[in-house]
Amino acid sequence: MTTTVNPYGFRRPHLLGIEGLSKPEIVDLLDRAEANVAVSRQANKKRDGLRGRTQINLFFEASTRTQSSFELAGKRLGADVMNMSVASSSVKKGETLIDTAVTLNAMNPDVIVVRHHASGAVALLAQKVDCSVINAGDGAHEHPTQALLDALTIRRHKGRIERLTVAICGDILHSRVARSNILLLTALDARVRLVGPTTLIPQAFRDMGLEVTTSMKDGLKDADIVMMLRLQRERMNGSLVPSVREYFRYYGLDAEKLAYARPDALVMHPGPMNRGVEIDPAVADGPQSLIREQVEMGVAVRIAVLEAVTGNRNASAVESAP
Ligand code: NCD
Repeated sequence: MTTTVNPYGFRRPHLLGIEGLSKPEIVDLLDRAEANVAVSRQANKKRDGLRGRTQINLFFEASTRTQSSFELAGKRLGADVMNMSVASSSVKKGETLIDTAVTLNAMNPDVIVVRHHASGAVALLAQKVDCSVINAGDGAHEHPTQALLDALTIRRHKGRIERLTVAICGDILHSRVARSNILLLTALDARVRLVGPTTLIPQAFRDMGLEVTTSMKDGLKDADIVMMLRLQRERMNGSLVPSVREYFRYYGLDAEKLAYARPDALVMHPGPMNRGVEIDPAVADGPQSLIREQVEMGVAVRIAVLEAVTGNRNASAVESAP
């Protein structure tokens, strides 16, 4: 069997962010992920793309769905997967990260998946190791596999990303999910609107020329996709929102506010959700919600990314061999 290689596709040995990826690179990753969806639904989910390889999941921050889906993805590809959950509070952050990376590198892993509370930490780590590195979330910076799984979910339902109106709502300031989604969706020519209280929308996004509004009514008007974000109280210094009840009143997505969007609008949330804070349980579990499907697409996307980065790393090692 011959495999056709897309010359403009994703050829990088790491996935550190969406920033800097071209449209063909993003589409390549989405196409590869799409091919994994059917495999993940059949009884035998096992593949051998990473057979004999070692994958380390290095999580300095708590995670449920991201860590478990990277673990499942690696196992479905046949890799040996080791999970390291690091309690970071008692040790100096910079030292821990580099020391840990160098130690793990000595065990010859093929890929390290990293989540860290500091923006830029994952890119720094990638410079210190000899294997592929995947960013599973760094501070408020990027969460590229989340943006890819969101895009895959949207594309499967709407058939395209181009020209869709996507309203990203809530705590944009602290959200790496919002940042990666904004970069990906604009690269694929969607129309992105940011909705939230002024205190939770960073100036940098206003400067990017995106539509910004403090009103859910204006922001959701004609939206095809309504993407809600968790109110990240653990990242807030000082009070940026008056109270949770007030927040729900103005920014919580309930049936009444969802009615401002298009009748066929779909609702997304990366999880974990604060039910009754940014989203009404009736909407989260309602017919327009894609939240459960996002989790399913997470595994398909992570299989694609693990296979892509490790394959690219090997290809470049072969090319540069003496
Ligand atoms: C997000 C994260 O950790 O960045 N969750 C996730 O990965 N699904 C969003 C969040 O924490 O609110």
